[in-house]
Amino acid sequence: MMRIILSIFFLLFIITVATAQNTVVVNANQGKETISRHIYGHFSEHLGACIYGGFYVGDSSQAIPNTRGIRKDVVDALKKIRIPNLRWPGGCFADTYHWKDGIGPKARRPTIVNSWWGGVTENNSFGTHEFMDLCEQLGAEPYVSANVGSGTVQEVSDWVQYMNFDGVSPMSKLRKENGHEKPWSVKFWGVGNEAWGCGGNMRVEYYADIYRKYATFMTETKGTKPFRIASGASSDDYHWTEVLMRDIPANLLEGVALHHYSVIDWNKKGSATAFSELEYFTTMQRALRMEEFVQKHTAIMDKYDPKKRVALVVDEWGGWYDTEPGTNGAFLFQQNTLRDAMIAGTTLNTFNNHCDRVRMANLAQVVNVLQAVVLTDKEKMLVTPTYHVLEMYTVHHDAIMLPVQVQSGDYVVGNDKLPAISASASKQKDGTIHISLVNINSKMTQEVKIDVQGAKLTNISGRILTSDKLQNHNTFDKPDAVKPVSFKGASLKDSIVKVTLPPFSVVVLELR
Ligand code: AHR
Repeated sequence: MMRIILSIFFLLFIITVATAQNTVVVNANQGKETISRHIYGHFSEHLGACIYGGFYVGDSSQAIPNTRGIRKDVVDALKKIRIPNLRWPGGCFADTYHWKDGIGPKARRPTIVNSWWGGVTENNSFGTHEFMDLCEQLGAEPYVSANVGSGTVQEVSDWVQYMNFDGVSPMSKLRKENGHEKPWSVKFWGVGNEAWGCGGNMRVEYYADIYRKYATFMTETKGTKPFRIASGASSDDYHWTEVLMRDIPANLLEGVALHHYSVIDWNKKGSATAFSELEYFTTMQRALRMEEFVQKHTAIMDKYDPKKRVALVVDEWGGWYDTEPGTNGAFLFQQNTLRDAMIAGTTLNTFNNHCDRVRMANLAQVVNVLQAVVLTDKEKMLVTPTYHVLEMYTVHHDAIMLPVQVQSGDYVVGNDKLPAISASASKQKDGTIHISLVNINSKMTQEVKIDVQGAKLTNISGRILTSDKLQNHNTFDKPDAVKPVSFKGASLKDSIVKVTLPPFSVVVLELR
């Protein structure tokens, strides 16, 4: 009997301690910075079934409803999450891509080999005009990755002219001959991709010089000043960022990229769906490092650019696992579970909280590749748990970021621990406040006390994304197995919000 009483006391003690540790203070009257909607950008590469099959089914497809070859279902789904920008054509593919192969009559476009992604045939039927058509259908801004690794300065300079020049020139003439009278005015330009790896295996000192040369000839045309983004560091390569910031003159640089994938071990990534608690924990360890990377790269950028003129552009991020059994290993097709929702929720909170420097980001990749928001199988389509997080977070697009201070209990596995709670907040023009909360703890519910300072609030509502198993995901047979529902676990009294967050859940609260 005594043992039972002691156990109950011990349990109550643990619960009390865990409860006391989770507090969030939201400074509702200290909002200064805007969360750019471009933080919620996406990435599409000529890789596996991202472009061909995922977005593009060809002008003659009857089976899948499309507009000029572009799938309607995928466009509709992405419009619902208000996709702000789309990066293309890579990734590694970008540094092998010669854009002139992808313009003009399709029958005359050369067929090449996609040497990065499975050696498959690339017939170039999806090129510049098709990509711009896709962006227009999506209402998204294009972000074009230019070929630095195997291209030329002239080629990139011509591409800028082809896309953006309104006057009389050989490139604008070519564009008009190919059926597009007016320029598109493309703003976002990547100057190569992963120059330290598939983009040319360069040293940063060499790349910085190359960048200066390319950026010089990516000239402003009437009304469109290219926003040039230097190929950035991988994860914690701080030397890379240091040299870019030190060696590239301010007038040639608008953005510096950063890539970070949440991968357990590059040689043993593990299954996307059949994973253990330890694998989940390790994935989250990798994902939460984004906070540290953003802070440290920002500190370097602050040294050279204290006014924060140059954006940190996290143009590849997300989870990376083994490809689905039975699929082509080079196509990087993986399923997407609640674990991915946890990566998305926590990472986007980090970006929101650092929106003064992180002004653009691109989840890798949008359809059928890595941490996709949409999966397709011929005429079928589903949206993933990650999609739902992006949809729930649309409330933060272009809203004013409200600083938060989070005190979190621990999520402990073995001898390691991680903060269980992550949060970010923003205020819309009409004063509505949104708070996004993530509990990554796979077992324990978290009680969170939120103190919203500097606002008089009377109304609360919310939505939650969770499930009964961390490994749950949507399938073509059960596409709605995981989806957000209305959240009843929050109460509001005198600007204090009390929230009960179930294990592995993402909640977005709306306060008025
Ligand atoms: O997103 C897949 C690949 O990952 C990209 O092509 C490359 O940039 C990165 O290494």
